[in-house]
Parts: sequence; C-alpha cells; structure tokens
Amino acid sequence: MATQDELKRQAAQKAVEYVNENEYLGIGTGSTVYFFIEALAQSKKQIKGAVSTSALTSETLKKFGIPEVTLNEVNGLPLYIDGADEINHLLQMIKGGGGALLNEKIVASAAEKFICIADESKYTSRLGHVSLPVEVTPNARSLVARRLLKLGGEPELRLGFTSDHGNQILDVANLNFDEPIKMEDAINKIPGVVENGLFTHHPADLLVLGCSDGIKVLTARV
Ligand code: A5P
Repeated sequence: MATQDELKRQAAQKAVEYVNENEYLGIGTGSTVYFFIEALAQSKKQIKGAVSTSALTSETLKKFGIPEVTLNEVNGLPLYIDGADEINHLLQMIKGGGGALLNEKIVASAAEKFICIADESKYTSRLGHVSLPVEVTPNARSLVARRLLKLGGEPELRLGFTSDHGNQILDVANLNFDEPIKMEDAINKIPGVVENGLFTHHPADLLVLGCSDGIKVLTARV
C-alpha cells in the first residue's frame, strides 16, 4: 500500500500537467508543495517565475533552480498550487499547518485558478478534525484567545513559532464549522487577528487527490 508521502507525490506530479509554460505561477507551502516543485523542475517546463508564499518555499525554489518573482512584480496570476490540512466537498479548506496562511491567502486570492494537491487523508465530509490556525499580532494574543473562547474554540499558542510576518499563531480546536464562511469572517473581525486558515471565500477550483486506488481530480460538489 502506498504511503501518505507517495500519495502526496503522485498528486504533486499530476498537478504539473496543469502548469503552462511561460506564465507566472503562485506556489504554496508544505511537504506536498515540496514534491510539486521537485516534479516541476524534473518536467523541464519553463515558467516565467514563481510567487512564493514562505521562506521555506523560496528555499526549495532556489534548490531546484526555479526563478522567483514577488507578487508586486506580476500583473495577476493564472494559477496557484498549494496543499491543505483539510478540504471538503465544496473545496473549502483549513490551511496554515505550516504557518504560511497569510501569504497563502494573499497569493491564492490573486490567482485566477487554485489547484489544491493533497493525499486522501485530507479529504473530509466535514471541516474541523484539525485545529484552525489563526495568525495574531503578538500584543493581541491573549485578547484574541479570549474572543476565540467565546466563539466556542479552544485556542493554543503554537510554541516557538513566529510567522514570516513576525506574528504568532493560535491553533484553535473545537470550533463549529457548520457555517464556515460566517466563521472565517467572524474570526477575521476580531482586532489583532491578521488572518485565519479557513479558505471559504477562495476555495480551490480543482482538487488533485492522491488516493490508494488512483489519482482523483475533483471539482466542488454542491
Ligand atoms: C501551510 O501553511 C499549509 O497551509 C499547508 O498547505 C498544509 O499544511 C499542507 O501541508 P502538507 O502538504 O505538508 O500536508
């Protein structure tokens, strides 16, 4: 039976087929993304440049000789490719396990198309089996934590972690995601919250899922 990493790699390799040469490409963060960058380099497809979402991804791009550009240098992005911590049938996601949720949301929102790459363990009928990462300014950490408690969550500070933007992350368990769009908005309205890892306003357009019985390419099932 294929391991989780093998399934991630298969999804990542499949996603390379959707990359057009001579275009800019947004690239997320995480182990599945690492496999994607590796596969893109092996494919010899030449892209104009990649917009990275983290220092880690920039390092990987450098390692594989893929040129990087900033979001400010490009006038729109045709495609964004990223992993997820959880994704449902509407292709709404919880992201930010790697702590890069702010850049991921910015770059995803700039792209015309978002392809999520994941192994089958990430696909769920109901979001919320994993904690929701919430990026906060350090001075508002306790205030935001108390507000998150009022929303029904159980926040826990991600210890020893500082985001690429100098912020901290609260990982929030037990939130109710019956209405995920409302929850994404409610959390982002708390002063001190920089961004949260719910991707409901910008769900993926396509999910390339590595499964033990083969690769599945899924669109949202309403
Ligand atoms: C990074 O901040 C996250 O949003 C990642 O997309 C997520 O953690 C997926 O990671 P893996 O590809 O390592 O499972």
